[in-house]
Amino acid sequence: MTKDKILVARAIFPDILERLVEHFDVESNQDDAVWNKAHLIEKLQGKAGVFTTGGDQIDAEVLDACPDLRICANMAVGYNNFDIDAMSARGVLATNAPDVLTETTADFGFALLMATARRVAESEHYLRAGRWSRWAVDMFAGADIHGSTLGIIGMGRIGQGIAKRGALGFGMRVVYHNRSRLAAALEAECRATFVGKDELLATADHVMLVVPYSPATHHLIGASEIASMKPTATLVNIARGGIVDDAALAEALKAGRIAAAGLDVFEGEPKVHPALLDVPNVVLTPHIASASVPTRRAMVGLAADNLIGFLTRDAPLTPINLDAIGARRRAAR
Ligand code: DGY
Repeated sequence: MTKDKILVARAIFPDILERLVEHFDVESNQDDAVWNKAHLIEKLQGKAGVFTTGGDQIDAEVLDACPDLRICANMAVGYNNFDIDAMSARGVLATNAPDVLTETTADFGFALLMATARRVAESEHYLRAGRWSRWAVDMFAGADIHGSTLGIIGMGRIGQGIAKRGALGFGMRVVYHNRSRLAAALEAECRATFVGKDELLATADHVMLVVPYSPATHHLIGASEIASMKPTATLVNIARGGIVDDAALAEALKAGRIAAAGLDVFEGEPKVHPALLDVPNVVLTPHIASASVPTRRAMVGLAADNLIGFLTRDAPLTPINLDAIGARRRAAR
């Protein structure tokens, strides 16, 4: 039996690549070369499936140029790199990688919050630069985490993990804002109180963003939202670039409108707004919230299993648009 052809668009763990090779005729990018759209389209010719990361854009132009494509398997929980409507309209399945990264990403939210509020990175840079000559009582004095109010925007699985860490681990009062309110039992489990966005911004000591990116959340936090936060507050974005207006944030940090920020994601990443690079009270990390070795292996493994499940048994594990694909199939019968 001839094997389906698939493309693995980025370098992945060799043993998981081997697993794919058992099932498919695989072309892979193990050198992790940077491919532009034209090159991606060329590589996708004749391919039934593709393994992507959040940086690989699959839009109508790509889909129209690659008519053999049946599944795009993203190794990220976020999938704003996929045009889901365009995929559904063409009968192409999209899958993502939820759940396996929840706890690791929630851990990182706290790592960035601690580093930001307690000025870890800023003080470390100071020490390395040889500037520490004398200890002082207010040296790098920051904000407390324990006992403070944590505001979470976006209360999906990762937001819930952060809420539990905050409430149970650090004795924080947790408020959250989400498109829809959680069921009472889940709210109680997270020890979190639902509030409006304005109230959250005005009352939280620390604001953590965990909301998916969409046109509706573009620049959800801009100059006026930052101005409504406490001057002592910190802002942490582990969600997606574009949710915060990075230029407005850099200006607000320089002007001392809020105390500090921690950013793992950036508008237009891997480029970072140059103004942010000049600001001392911001901690910047290169989109690594889910980057523990076991979790990255689990994310890659899940994307691989989605390709195997769908193309060999019509049984993807974590589909996004299965209903739309099913309806299309039924209409074609
Ligand atoms: C995700 O899974 O969406 C993370 O941001 C990693 O890309």
